[in-house]
Amino acid sequence: MKLFHIVGARPNFMKVAPVLNALKGRENVVQTLVHTGQHYDVNMSDVFFQQLGIPAPDVNLAVGSGTHAKQTAEIMIRLEPVVLERQPDLVLVYGDVNSTVATVLVCAKLGVQVGHVEAGLRSFDRTMPEEINRLVTDQLADLLFTPSEDGDENLRREGIPAEKIFRVGNVMIDSLVRLLPLARKTGRDDLPERYALVTLHRPANVDDSATLKGILESLLEVNRDLAVVFPAHPRTRKRIDDFGLSAGQLRVLDPLPYVDFLGLQSRATVVITDSGGIQEETTYLGVPCLTVRENTERPITVSMGTNVLVGRDPEKLRTELSRVLSGKAKKGTVPPLWDGHAGERIADILVGWPPRVKAAI
Ligand code: UD1
Repeated sequence: MKLFHIVGARPNFMKVAPVLNALKGRENVVQTLVHTGQHYDVNMSDVFFQQLGIPAPDVNLAVGSGTHAKQTAEIMIRLEPVVLERQPDLVLVYGDVNSTVATVLVCAKLGVQVGHVEAGLRSFDRTMPEEINRLVTDQLADLLFTPSEDGDENLRREGIPAEKIFRVGNVMIDSLVRLLPLARKTGRDDLPERYALVTLHRPANVDDSATLKGILESLLEVNRDLAVVFPAHPRTRKRIDDFGLSAGQLRVLDPLPYVDFLGLQSRATVVITDSGGIQEETTYLGVPCLTVRENTERPITVSMGTNVLVGRDPEKLRTELSRVLSGKAKKGTVPPLWDGHAGERIADILVGWPPRVKAAI
């Protein structure tokens, strides 16, 4: 079987690594890795390949940044001839980024089967570009690999036949489990023992000057009680400069490599974030997570894990932070199948494909 993996943005890389590994050496599987080039900075891409042990991409489409339409269209234009020429039997896509939806659009129209890893997540908020990507991708994919039960339910509600849905668990946790021992050994002498680890990059939080200013002010307030360590996404750093804002005394760092960031997360007193994946990683690590969003596509991190949605309400952030500082942080448990073996479960299903699954569909 000729299998393509398509990745493009930072959160894809920790998801593809375990699937690539699990399929390595399986009989009759030939893997091709395509990088769209959506993320291209060394510290947003290359470093992740190195640390996660991902081989160099066989194809790099080098699309770079642009508006959603331009970036998505450019990926489609550059990917189509590659798919036509190499004729994969199945294409795997990951998560909910523009590279994911662009790929599924190309493949669906060429009649090439697609598997979606991390299917079924829904925030029910269509102002989020990722929600649009998730909805379109799941409608068009042929195999849907979900991380948790809510994913299966969302897909069934949208009319996806049960035979296409495979609950395999969380592939991102596979990478975490593998590299946590190494991450725990990484240390930084320049940081205090107790700190709040912050990441922010959602357009809804950083693309509006007044909103970003309000969040920075809240973080400066946090910083009075607990040092704020803030590895900033390039988009966020650019917006802070463009809007003439200041991060004051916050410890702003460049984006960190995977292992370094995981180490910082595992030792953090609290994580404050608007990321999707970090809500899951903190739940696994048992570290309190305050999410600066009104909703989440990962509700299991709230119902079972350590995640609390604080929205953009400074009062809510204050209240939840003082709970953490007084030792009353929410406790959580690790959801089922977030056990480090999701990639293998996907590999087992794919190896039995196409006859079994094709017949079932
Ligand atoms: C993308 C994903 C988002 C994911 C995030 C993780 C979509 C719709 N969004 O958002 O779901 O959580 O990645 O990082 O796909 N930039 C650089 N260097 C890079 C990449 C980006 O400087 O290597 C800057 C550019 O100014 C670019 C901006 O970041 O315009 C946004 O990049 P883009 O890939 O469009 O979206 P992200 O915000 O990174």
